[in-house]
Amino acid sequence: MQKNSIILVAGANGLVGSAVVRCLKSKGYTNILTPSSKEVNLISQVATEAYFSDKRPEYVFMAAAKVGGINANNTYRADFIYENLTIASNVVHYSHKTGVKGLLFYGSSCIYPKFAEQPIREDALLSGEMEPTNRPYALSKISGIELCDSYNRQYATDFRAIMPSNVYGIGDNFNLKNSHVLPALIRKFHEAKVGNINQVTLWGSGKPRREFIYADDLADAAIFVMNLDKEKLAAKSKQPHINVGCGEDISIMELATIIKGIIGFNGEVIWDSSMPDGTMRKLMDVSTLDELGWQHQTKIRTGIVQTYKWFLDNQEKLRL
Ligand SMILES: NC(=O)c1ccc[n+]([C@@H]2O[C@H](COP(=O)([O-])OP(=O)(O)OC[C@H]3O[C@@H](n4cnc5c(N)ncnc54)[C@H](OP(=O)(O)O)[C@@H]3O)[C@@H](O)[C@H]2O)c1
Repeated sequence: MQKNSIILVAGANGLVGSAVVRCLKSKGYTNILTPSSKEVNLISQVATEAYFSDKRPEYVFMAAAKVGGINANNTYRADFIYENLTIASNVVHYSHKTGVKGLLFYGSSCIYPKFAEQPIREDALLSGEMEPTNRPYALSKISGIELCDSYNRQYATDFRAIMPSNVYGIGDNFNLKNSHVLPALIRKFHEAKVGNINQVTLWGSGKPRREFIYADDLADAAIFVMNLDKEKLAAKSKQPHINVGCGEDISIMELATIIKGIIGFNGEVIWDSSMPDGTMRKLMDVSTLDELGWQHQTKIRTGIVQTYKWFLDNQEKLRL
């Protein structure tokens, strides 16, 4: 990308997309398109075609998607597969039709098989049984990766995909009905502390382990991958997607202890094991990206402190 290239960040208001916009600006990119879903609804083929034909982006970060935690994925199964499949098809297709030079698609570590060998290598995709709670979402994301690979093979496009671990940070979704685990814990402990409630109930057994990456680190990785030399990337990466994570995981119980400490909640934690745990472990092997020259910067405690500070300072614009 050149500093004045036309760069579309689809999903620029979201956790992942807003971090890409911050990171692009901090690196001196000046020509960034950040439409909301109201400005261009990427589920609409007509609206997507019109937007791409009019704005002619040269590079696309594909961070627009219907996203949620285990409960939302399991409950709104049809919405998750329909919206994500349609958005991916529309954006990849019209990126090709309008000559986009580079596109970065976001997969997710949660789309690897439920019992994949740990740490999960890129070649584990589609090698085994899927986690049932998020299978519709996972299949739409796998189709997105396949779309990129298929257009590359048939039309010689340069559409790349990354597989982030669990993302958290500034701009996260704190709505308990559809948030991910980390922002949900921040909100629950915060509200218990300010409400002088001495018990917090958390979903599941606390035993599953998760790998987290701070959104601003992920944005840096996304720009790094977008800018990688094509031959260098092809020489190192034999799969159409690259894992992006911090290379370490922690249990939800350990995560709860860290967040509880940062927030200063001194009460009791109850684990509601009637709620599903999801996949027990999904630590990724991040050696491909490491060998290509990128490592994460933000330690989990630092990232949570920054996220909680943002949560406290931005109460009026929180997604609750
Ligand atoms: N969060 C994670 O832990 C995580 C982990 C791995 C991968 N990812 C991937 O990262 C990407 C972004 O996730 P996120 O956490 O940033 O989600 P998010 O905070 O919910 O943001 C999603 C964005 O998508 C946009 N969007 C949704 N439907 C749209 C539509 N029909 N047309 C146009 N825009 C639409 C929304 O735009 P408006 O706000 O304008 O409505 C929103 O800004 C997804 O592909 C996700 O799979 C996320």
